[in-house]
Amino acid sequence: MKQKIINVEQSEYWNEKSGPKWVKNEDALNERLSILTNELFLRAKLKESDKVLDIGCGGGDTTFRVSKLLGDGGHVVGADISHTLLNHAKSKFSNIDAMKFVHCDAQNYSFDGNYFDKVISRFGVMFFENPSEAFKNILGSMQTNGSLNFVCWTNMMENEFITEGMDVITKYTQKVLPEVTKDPGPFAFSDREYVNEVLQSAGFKNINIDKVYTSISTKDSAEQDAELLMGIGPRARILSEENLSSEKMSMIKNEIIQLCEKRQIGKEITYKACLNYVSATK
Ligand SMILES: C[S@@+](CC[C@H](N)C(=O)[O-])C[C@H]1O[C@@H](n2cnc3c(N)ncnc32)[C@H](O)[C@@H]1O
Repeated sequence: MKQKIINVEQSEYWNEKSGPKWVKNEDALNERLSILTNELFLRAKLKESDKVLDIGCGGGDTTFRVSKLLGDGGHVVGADISHTLLNHAKSKFSNIDAMKFVHCDAQNYSFDGNYFDKVISRFGVMFFENPSEAFKNILGSMQTNGSLNFVCWTNMMENEFITEGMDVITKYTQKVLPEVTKDPGPFAFSDREYVNEVLQSAGFKNINIDKVYTSISTKDSAEQDAELLMGIGPRARILSEENLSSEKMSMIKNEIIQLCEKRQIGKEITYKACLNYVSATK
């Protein structure tokens, strides 16, 4: 049968509708992203007195983690465009003095100028319509000698956490994965040369982009993992467009559970991941 190609605007992967899904899966995602979060924090070399900006902070997990590392004089601002996620973050972390959340579009928000020592982001900077302008704006918020550290996905096909189960879903739906472009979306910064160009044109110096092979893992059961895989990213998008019968949905789920079981060693399910760790200075 001929495959239907869905024309998904990548930016649609992240909009206000994505918020509740992220909140629902937050703990599961934070667990899976813990190895790469540790790596991001090591690279950011946070100091107790740092003023830190966390761009696209979502539910505030990384912002909170920064706050725990700060001492006197240090504080962290989590910035996000999603009301749903920021409200969620505020409801969890409202009582921590060294941390605040700002609802804004980081592309053009008037942050305090020449203020932050460190800007960090875990998967929160790939959704800008005009990345050069957005990073110019972010640069303006940084002190002289301030540094930027973020982590983003490389090529989707090198990230099993994103692709696992996709074949099952395409088999049942006859749809194919949308083409990945540089349009705003999770994979907009897959290409290192492009990221370098964006940061250079925004005025950043000492740009360094490390492509790192790592892993994403969970102690969830295969069934819980399959549910998560079906509930996020391109897989969820295709499934939500198809309106499949509950019988077909459970056939898909069963096949994906089997895939998750095959990955399980002891209590851990692991996916190969490939990320770009990006750093630059003002
Ligand atoms: C994939 S989520 C990552 C969330 C969080 N950093 C984490 O790792 O849990 C991307 C986040 O970027 C935010 N975002 C997207 N475009 C943004 C913009 N222009 N300004 C601020 N935040 C933005 C989204 O609302 C979302 O919370």
